[in-house]
Amino acid sequence: MARTRVLIDTDPGVDDAVAILLALASPELDVVAVVAVNGNVSLDKTALNARRIVALAGRDDVPVAAGCAQPLSEPLGEESIVHGHDGLGDLEWGEPAVALDPRDGVDLTAALIDEAPLTIVAIGPLTNLAALVERYPGIERRVQRVVVMGGASFHGNVTPAAEFNIWTDPAAARRVFDASWPITLMPLDLTHQAYLNDEDLAYLRGLGTEVGRRTAAMLEPYAQFHERWYGSRDVIMHDAMAVYDVLDPSAITNQGARVAVEVDGVYSRGATFIDRRREHTESPVRVGVSVDNERFRSLLRERLATYRH
Ligand code: RIB
Ligand code: CA
Repeated sequence: MARTRVLIDTDPGVDDAVAILLALASPELDVVAVVAVNGNVSLDKTALNARRIVALAGRDDVPVAAGCAQPLSEPLGEESIVHGHDGLGDLEWGEPAVALDPRDGVDLTAALIDEAPLTIVAIGPLTNLAALVERYPGIERRVQRVVVMGGASFHGNVTPAAEFNIWTDPAAARRVFDASWPITLMPLDLTHQAYLNDEDLAYLRGLGTEVGRRTAAMLEPYAQFHERWYGSRDVIMHDAMAVYDVLDPSAITNQGARVAVEVDGVYSRGATFIDRRREHTESPVRVGVSVDNERFRSLLRERLATYRH
């Protein structure tokens, strides 16, 4: 089976952690690097969390680097506490066995693009990707595909208009969507179809592994946030949808679209206007439409159960 070469650009983030653990346990993927970006929490924390997750997976062969610390757009608001103060559910961790790669994350991404075909899975704000196409003009034409978790067709989460990843850095998002590379977008109206419930958390705890225990533990405060925010403990697996689309292209239906990003606006900053009219049917920009949650949950359980530690 030909494996897909993947770089994960991420702001861990509890759901980022599940997405990264899924990717590292999937034989269809060859994860060549994890690059952190400022997002859920500051870059120093997201980079540390990325190291923690890659070390938890036992994959010290995968480089972890840090990208951009500040968004292109005016930073707004305080650090999110949705994922805990440390960004990973506030568990106790020792010093991760995976060191931070000294290379700049954006430059590392460019170097990996030039080595061989690469799919970029972007599950945080798009600051690093915007820096990539600015710093390396034309590089977007050498990228196999970009799969982005972000945006919303109808209703946001961080505001009624905007989804968090796009809202955090709308100028970067506009730059990314204006670049000429094939993009697949997983917006909230897709990701809300995929979630884990308390039975899944109990299953993870029952695996008897550190991966199972820690994944369930970091999802617990995330479940409490979901209960306060949505009235249900079901934890939405936003970022895992971007990984799932790469490891199983048959899993998520999509359609062609044109995506416009609102950069400035008192109420509309970060809104994504997803135009699905027939004229965009053949667009290189694809938008996720539907996913079978039972099929996803079953695959995720199977893959996380392959960790023997
Ligand atoms: O809106 C969902 C996105 O923002 C996900 O990437 C999640 O990590 C949150 O931070
Ligand atoms: Ca994320």
